[in-house]
Amino acid sequence: MTEDRKERQRDMYRAPDPAEGPLTTDQGVAVDHTDDSLTVGERGPTLMEDFHFREKLTHFDHERIPERVVHARGAGAYGYFEPYESCAEFTRAAFLQDPSVRTPVFVRFSTVQGPRGSADTVRDVRGFATKFYTSEGNYDLVGNNMPVFFIQDGIKFPDFVHALKPEPQNEIPTGASAHDTLWDFVSLQPETMHMMMWLMSDRAIPRSYRMMQGFGVHTFRFVDAQGHGTFVKFHWKPKLGVHSLVWDEAQECQGRDPDFNRRDLWDAIEAGQYPEYELGVQLIPEEDEFNFEVDLLDATKIIPEEQVPVRPIGHMVLNRNPDNFFAETEQVAFHTANVVPGIDFTNDPLLQARNFSYLDTQLIRLGGPNFSQLPVNQPVAPARTNQRDGYHQSMIHRGTNYSPNSLGGGCPALAGADGYAFSHYAERVEGHKIRKRSESFKDFYSQAALFWNSMSDWERHHIVDAFRFELGKVGAVHVRERTVEQLAQVDYDLASQVAQGIGVALPEPGANNHKPQASPALSFENLQGDGS
Ligand code: HEM
Repeated sequence: MTEDRKERQRDMYRAPDPAEGPLTTDQGVAVDHTDDSLTVGERGPTLMEDFHFREKLTHFDHERIPERVVHARGAGAYGYFEPYESCAEFTRAAFLQDPSVRTPVFVRFSTVQGPRGSADTVRDVRGFATKFYTSEGNYDLVGNNMPVFFIQDGIKFPDFVHALKPEPQNEIPTGASAHDTLWDFVSLQPETMHMMMWLMSDRAIPRSYRMMQGFGVHTFRFVDAQGHGTFVKFHWKPKLGVHSLVWDEAQECQGRDPDFNRRDLWDAIEAGQYPEYELGVQLIPEEDEFNFEVDLLDATKIIPEEQVPVRPIGHMVLNRNPDNFFAETEQVAFHTANVVPGIDFTNDPLLQARNFSYLDTQLIRLGGPNFSQLPVNQPVAPARTNQRDGYHQSMIHRGTNYSPNSLGGGCPALAGADGYAFSHYAERVEGHKIRKRSESFKDFYSQAALFWNSMSDWERHHIVDAFRFELGKVGAVHVRERTVEQLAQVDYDLASQVAQGIGVALPEPGANNHKPQASPALSFENLQGDGS
């Protein structure tokens, strides 16, 4: 069974059983004393020749590696994925063909802003990253628990994260997202507005990783065996439903149990209450690319489910906790560019940036180019490359390593045209080299308003409270005012409630302010907002 392949692979890497022999050095030499260093007499200096003492201290001195630049705090688990039926109609991805095939997975849930030791229940986006160890290589679906993102173009990511992180001079604040730099950025970069509505909602304080949705966010591409493409958006839905904390609970958890979400995931799996999620897809034929009010390449927009329903295609069960947090949860390396035949990219400029950034950061975080050999990252499909050497090379390759190659002796042959190999989707592109945001990306407020309109009264109440709490911490009055001006573009009533709470003047209702809308439904009609 493929599910067991990952387990068998992990077995090969498990350290020797401590019960089966004495303590040793790294070189396997048995040690009979580890409590006192070797000294000259009882009160004399420590001797350099005490190799056990030096090895123990040296290894300890080098135990830490850089934390992730974002999503530093996380919790992970192994499990499996099973498709409900063959998806051959849309994709040739092997793991989506046969309901009897279980594909092993590793999932890491995370917060975004805080460092490794921060609290779980802060107001933040949650990462939901899944590595599928498929028979055709690793596929990573690196998603979040919200279906949109703050920015449209990856070149803004460093700016956004610098604004989100604690301020450079004093590292204050940690935890919650309440500070001047974030709101300064947000109020100057209105494409953030839709995501900020999600961030101020209860979605940003999930009760449990077991009760949280996941989204691929970008539009990706399925490719079938004939090379025909279909746009696809990925959705994870938790079997336990979506549940959040309320703000007071979230704050209390931060004090009483900063590991609240991490502990819940661990304990549930230990108790056999395995978290389960259904994978659904929104499928959009290529011919329909321009039949939407929004641009499919704009990651700040959803495609309303009324217009393109989510079709369930399989489910995932998380049933094993890692053996070692550092080896597995900390060293796992997800990358949006880890795709398999049958899944491909689109030209979403945020996705294109991510396809560069993850490998780049992992080269430093995991110390060189060989981190795919780490057990948690190793594919179950055999990796036969011409890549050699580098720090932490742990494979013993034999023979030559170049291509073309008439001497053989090591260089693998190229895959034949049997449909097994990855071939990039042959999309036709042409144009001038320019730096210009597409006009089709420029409606920043309609879907933020749609989100607000879809909320019940109590949900709106929580959103207003969140804006008041977070903006109430902003010292710069002009930043508060400008944020309220942005909110007035989303919904005048929302803006006026927030303005009252934080003591700033409300802008005059202007031609661009969205009027309060009656429909509470997430419907396509709401998306037609003309900004009037
Ligand atoms: C982690 C970059 C947008 C989801 C990371 C990391 C980087 C990064 C450098 C750390 C990776 C590591 O050290 O292993 C970027 C850039 C983005 C972007 C440049 C925009 C251009 C997004 C979006 C999503 C997302 C839109 C969700 C759809 C995640 C997740 C992780 C992560 C879930 C944590 C992965 C893990 O658990 O190890 N991102 N990110 N990121 N990112 Fe992004």
